[in-house]
Amino acid sequence: MARIPDEVINQVRSSINILDVVRQRVDLKKSGRNYFGLCPFHSEKTPSFSVDEEKQIFHCFSCGRGGNVFSFLMELDGSTFPEAVNKIAEEAGIELADSYQTAGVVNSQANQEKKQLLALYKEVSELYHYILTATNAGQEALDYLHQRGITDEMISEFQLGYAPEEKLLEAYFQEHKVDIALIQKSGLFIDRTDGSMYERFRDRVMFPICDEVGRVIAFSGRLLHKDDSKQQPKYLNSPEMLLFNKGKVLFNYDKARQASRDDHQIILFEGFMDVLSAYQAGVKNGVASMGTSLTSEQINLIERIVPKINICYDGDQAGQQATKRAIELITPYSQKITLSVTVLPEQLDPDEFIKKYGPDQFRRVIKQQQLGVLDFYLSFLAIDRNLANESDQALYIQDFLQVLAKQATVVEQDLYLNRLGQQFDLDKASLQAQLRQILAVTDRQPRTHQSKYREDYSQFDQFQIPVVTQEVNHFDKVERAERLLLYRMLTEHTIWDQIENTVDFAFVHRKYESIWLIARGYFNIHSDYDSASFIDFLQDEDLKQTIVNLEMHGFTWESSSQEINDCLNVIMNQSPLEAKIKELSEQLQQAKRLNNRELITSLTMNLVDLYRQRQAVR
Ligand code: GTP
Ligand code: MN
Repeated sequence: MARIPDEVINQVRSSINILDVVRQRVDLKKSGRNYFGLCPFHSEKTPSFSVDEEKQIFHCFSCGRGGNVFSFLMELDGSTFPEAVNKIAEEAGIELADSYQTAGVVNSQANQEKKQLLALYKEVSELYHYILTATNAGQEALDYLHQRGITDEMISEFQLGYAPEEKLLEAYFQEHKVDIALIQKSGLFIDRTDGSMYERFRDRVMFPICDEVGRVIAFSGRLLHKDDSKQQPKYLNSPEMLLFNKGKVLFNYDKARQASRDDHQIILFEGFMDVLSAYQAGVKNGVASMGTSLTSEQINLIERIVPKINICYDGDQAGQQATKRAIELITPYSQKITLSVTVLPEQLDPDEFIKKYGPDQFRRVIKQQQLGVLDFYLSFLAIDRNLANESDQALYIQDFLQVLAKQATVVEQDLYLNRLGQQFDLDKASLQAQLRQILAVTDRQPRTHQSKYREDYSQFDQFQIPVVTQEVNHFDKVERAERLLLYRMLTEHTIWDQIENTVDFAFVHRKYESIWLIARGYFNIHSDYDSASFIDFLQDEDLKQTIVNLEMHGFTWESSSQEINDCLNVIMNQSPLEAKIKELSEQLQQAKRLNNRELITSLTMNLVDLYRQRQAVR
C-alpha cells in the first residue's frame, strides 16, 4: 500500500467532525465548551473523557489517552493509522484511491457486506422506480401519486418507486446472479417457516430511505390498495439490519441538511407524505422519523446541523399529543436546540393544508406562525376544555403551572403568571403562591425529566474542577512554564518569532525541545497551527500525548508580555538552579547514609547557597 499523502489525510480529517465519530460510540454530554462521557478505554464511574469540538481532539483526564479522530479509532479498535484514515473516509463518504486503501478495511467482512448491500439497495431502488415510471404494472401507483399532487419531478428527485403485487425481485436477482446470502441479509424478503422466502414489499409505493450522504439504505412502502381482510399496515419499513437502524435515521435528512443551513432550522413532520408535499411547496428542510417517536440519536443528527427545530405535526388531536411528546424528548437538549411549534388549523396535516391553501400560504404559516413551547402548551392544554367553565379553568391553570414549574425560566414564569392573571382576571399573588407550592413538590421529587437532566449536568460540573487542579500540580514550576510558553509559541505567531530570536533559549525537557523542532517543519507547510493536524504531523506517540495534554489544559485565550517574560525567566534562569538543588540533595542523602560528616557539611553549605539564589530569583 502506498503511503497516504498528507493532503489526503488532511482532507479526510477535516471532512468529519470528531464529535460525530465519538458520539456514535460514546455517550456524551455538553458541559461548558467541551463534551464529556465515560472513557471507552478503561472502566470508570464518573466521566473523565472529553471531546473538544473546536480543537477536534479528545482526551481522558483519568487514563491520559488523547488525540485526534484517527487516534481515537486506533485506540478503540486497534486500527493502524492507515486503517483509521480509511474508516473515517468511509464514514465521510470519501472515496480513497485504490492504492491508499488498506486491506483490512477493504476486506473486512462487515465493510464488504455493507458495500454490497448498498449496491443492492441502489439497484433495487432503481428497479422500483423504473416499475413505477415506465411500466404498465406501475401505472396505477403513478396515477395515485399524481392524483395526490406529487409531480414527476418530485418522483424522480426522491426516486419514488412501486413494488408490484406479483413477484419481481426473485427473477431479477437470478438473472443478475446476486448472491443468495446477501439477499437473505437484505431484508427485502421474509422467511417462511418452510424455509422459502417471499418478497416483503408487494403492492406498495416505495419511499427510499437514505443515509446522510444520500445512499439508499432502506425502504418504507405505502400500501396502494387497502384490503381490510388482510390487516396490513399502511406503511411497512425495512427491518433493522447492517445498513439500517430506524432510530438513527430521518427521512429526507440528506437533502434537508443543505436546505436547513440556509433556513437555520429543521422542520419536523410526522409523515413522509408531509415531507414530500412540503418539499414540493418549497420547504425543503423537512424531515420525519419512521413512524416512531423521536430518539436521542435523531435529535443529535439535527443538532449537528442546526440549533433550531420547528415541529409541524398534524393539526388533529393525535398530532398535538405527538407534539407534546416530541417537546418532552427535545427539552433535555434545550441548551443546544431552540424549539418552536407550528399548529395547523382545522386539524389539517401539512399535506392536506398545502392542498387546501396552496404552497405560498404554507410557507408563510411555517415561517410566521411559530409558537414558543409555553405558548404551545397554553393552546394544547385548552383542547377539550371549556375555559368558561370554572372547574375546567382551574384544571387548565393547574396544568399550565406544572409546565411553568418544569420548563420555564424564572423570567418566563413571571411573564406567564401576568398573562394568566389577565386572561382569567386572577390575582397574580395567588397564582404565584400556587406555583411555589408546585415547585416545592417538584424539588422534593427530583425524578422529573427536567430535574434529572440538571442533576446530570451538575455531576459533570463538579468533577471538572478537581481534575484540572490535579493536572496543574502534577508539573513543577519549570515544566509549567515550559508548557505554557510552548502553547503560546504554537498558537501565536508573534510569540513564536520572539522565542526563535531569543539567544540561548532552550527548553529544559527534551520533549518540549523536540516539539519545537518538529513545529518548525510544520510551519514550513502550514501557515497556521491546528491541533488535530499537528497531532498527525508529530507521529511520535509520546509527543502526541504531550500536545493533547497541553491542549486540554485550557490556557486562557491570549498571552501577555508579562506572562511570556515570566516563563522565560523561570526556564532560563531558574531551572539550572533547580536541577543543581536536586542533584546536591541526592548527594546529601547519600552522604548521610554513609555518615560522611565532612561531605555532609560542605554539601549543606552549598545547598544553603543555592536556596538563597533561588529566593533571589523569585
Ligand atoms: P398518507 O396517509 O399517505 O397521507 O401518509 P401520512 O404520511 O400522512 O401518514 P400518517 O399521518 O398516517 O402517518 C405518519 C407516519 O407514521 C407515516 O409517514 C409513517 O412513517 C408512519 N406510519 C403510519 N402508519 C404506519 C404503519 O402502519 N406502520 C408503520 N411502521 N408506520 C406507520
Ligand atoms: Mn397524510
